[in-house]
Amino acid sequence: MNKRETLLIVDDEPHIINALKRLLLGNDFNILHANSAAEGLTLVQQNEVNVVISDYCMPVRNGVEFLSQVKIISPSTERILMTAFATIDTAIEAINSGEVFRFIIKPWDNKLLLNAIDDCLMHQRLVNTLKLGEERMFHTMARMVELKDPYTRGHCQRVANCSVAIADVLDLNKAIKKEILWGGWLHDCGKVGVPEKILNFPGRLSDQDLKLIHRHSEWGASVVSEAGLSRQVVNIVMYHHEHISGGGYPLGLKGEDIPLEARIVAVADVFDALSTDRPYRSGFPMDKVRRIMAEMRGDILDPKLHDILFDNFEKVFYEMHAPIEKNTGFKGVSVRQASLN
Ligand SMILES: [Fe+2]
Repeated sequence: MNKRETLLIVDDEPHIINALKRLLLGNDFNILHANSAAEGLTLVQQNEVNVVISDYCMPVRNGVEFLSQVKIISPSTERILMTAFATIDTAIEAINSGEVFRFIIKPWDNKLLLNAIDDCLMHQRLVNTLKLGEERMFHTMARMVELKDPYTRGHCQRVANCSVAIADVLDLNKAIKKEILWGGWLHDCGKVGVPEKILNFPGRLSDQDLKLIHRHSEWGASVVSEAGLSRQVVNIVMYHHEHISGGGYPLGLKGEDIPLEARIVAVADVFDALSTDRPYRSGFPMDKVRRIMAEMRGDILDPKLHDILFDNFEKVFYEMHAPIEKNTGFKGVSVRQASLN
């Protein structure tokens, strides 16, 4: 956490403000507070506020209305809604419409609230860094996202390399291949919006938690789009979990309605997930990977792109595990190799 970062607490109950201030005291934030939405909006106009934590139930203007105004006045300010269990549906709606980044249920759990603030700050840093438009930073930020989900270490680079190798066989031009490389790195950047507890949950997830994980493609797309990255990068982040048969998410697009760059990354994503080690299992042997992916062909994966991968297997596999300088102007750390068994 950083000393320069400013948090604004908005609640009409002074004892809530005091309790939150006490909780955040040791974290070196610059803390502002307001007792009403109107007062809160004035503070947002006058200060560079990183994160607003607002109560839902306030007189005159409720928390969602207030945070919608904050979004208009200061789009880069991250927004957390505090809500009672009775109004949880409103909070979920506000998340789905993009008015709110995270919500916390009252009475709050201190650790969950601090995690939500950390996630907000990470989301904001991600957007701000990507706005710089530097390739090396795109890669660094993708690696930072992997830290949240250590099961996927090295995954973004392998997916990006594999996608570029497929794009190469398709003879796509150099500029598009660059966008595919960046989109491959950043395809899961929306995972900053998924609580670590859910991301790393070892058992079967509830439907609600699964829905939250599925939100990562839209959250990620909002990050890369806010940062001004290209349409191809936004498409990859948004649509890499669509299925060719229409059974995927977030929109259930079918066939060629799914942008080509997203269909390419989807094939690379599945191939890497199956062929490399996870802490809970080793990577599958290649004949098993082929069998599983053959079953997905035409249902989940684009059949043509699936065939390109396996018809050019040696090339794609080799380039997938190539060092980062193969597709960029800088050197990076090498990624773990999968075995060709
Ligand atoms: Fe993903």
